[in-house]
Amino acid sequence: MAVLLTGGAGFIGSHTCVELLNANEEVVILDNFSNSKPDVLDKIRTITGKNFRFYEVDLLDRDGVEKVFAENDIEAVIHFAGLKAVGESVQKPLEYYHNNITGTLILCDVMRKHNCKNIVFSSSATVYGSPKSVPIKEDFPLSTTNPYGSTKLMLEQILSDVFVSDNDWCVTLLRYFNPIGAHKSGLLGENPNGIPNNLMPYICQVADGRLEKLNVFGNDYPTHDGTGVRDYIHVVDLANGHLKALIHSRKEKGVHIFNLGTGVGYSVLDIVKAFEKANNVKVPYVIAPRRAGDIAECYADATKALEVLGWKTQYDIEQMCKDSWNFIVTNRK
Ligand code: NAD
Ligand code: UFG
Repeated sequence: MAVLLTGGAGFIGSHTCVELLNANEEVVILDNFSNSKPDVLDKIRTITGKNFRFYEVDLLDRDGVEKVFAENDIEAVIHFAGLKAVGESVQKPLEYYHNNITGTLILCDVMRKHNCKNIVFSSSATVYGSPKSVPIKEDFPLSTTNPYGSTKLMLEQILSDVFVSDNDWCVTLLRYFNPIGAHKSGLLGENPNGIPNNLMPYICQVADGRLEKLNVFGNDYPTHDGTGVRDYIHVVDLANGHLKALIHSRKEKGVHIFNLGTGVGYSVLDIVKAFEKANNVKVPYVIAPRRAGDIAECYADATKALEVLGWKTQYDIEQMCKDSWNFIVTNRK
């Protein structure tokens, strides 16, 4: 019996694969490398000393997905595969809806055919839209402001409908906050193509001298220093949340929704200062206009994941900054 990780070569999937292999789970990875590289697979093997099967398959290729299920006894799926760039999704809505929604429909249909009815889905705090207050609980109202977020919200609905149609399913919706950090080995981490959109990869490239300065998007938000506040979570803590959710999913059918965050919010300037202190580097910045679509504050109430899954985060912001930077330094060309 194996657990299939779609998108398992990606940032969160690769770290989750390590934690699953370390917990003696049998893993199969499916990825089309649209946003990852094949060398990640050997790095996972190096870190864990364990092996797993890999399929270079696009979720939109039904025959390819069929083959994975025909050749393996897949008991559960952790479904990471998806396109995730908010700005790009506004420019390419059809590509985003097709990849994320159609890909998931094909996956679920093939799962049903093979009587595999356990899915853990990568959702996002983006489904809370502009929250009316913080910390955010799982039962807060949901809304989205861009096609990427809409794919997450629609897929939450689709997967919930699948459960309604057949109560034999277990659907776990994990709403991630802001994953950063990297594996302590420096072998796995986040390596975006081009100029990064997200704060931590951008800071890393500034500190590395590849970008001149950070643009801090707005300092007039109603936060302690005027800059946007987010719930940054170490990717290894997030990966462990998947292991806990997987264990829980085997015990209890239904639709289960969990925030995966630390419950603590840091502003952009907090992160800049923490990064400079943790790594003894400089991160020059300027205050720039607000970025369209950004909200002032977003952090989790993560008590449900603690109470139900027994999951809590271990790594603090200093470690997140150290590990993010270690990945850059280790992988300098
Ligand atoms: P990532 O891009 O590093 O990983 C996604 C992986 O899926 C990549 O390896 C990519 O090649 C693969 N993929 C995409 N479309 C595919 C397809 N059609 N068929 C097969 N493989 C495909 O992203 P990540 O940061 O690891 O995110 C994983 C999941 O978590 C995504 O669904 C993302 O939307 C969600 N999420 C991420 C964040 C974040 O900030 N990183 C926050 C909330 C939610
Ligand atoms: N920021 C800057 N300068 C930059 C980049 C970001 O000031 O160059 C600020 C943003 O304005 C925001 C904070 O840093 O206040 C975090 O921005 P990110 O782009 O790193 O993250 P977001 O919170 O905007 O969004 C991320 C993912 C989404 C996901 C969401 C979940 O990109 O896909 O986290 O909370 F849905």
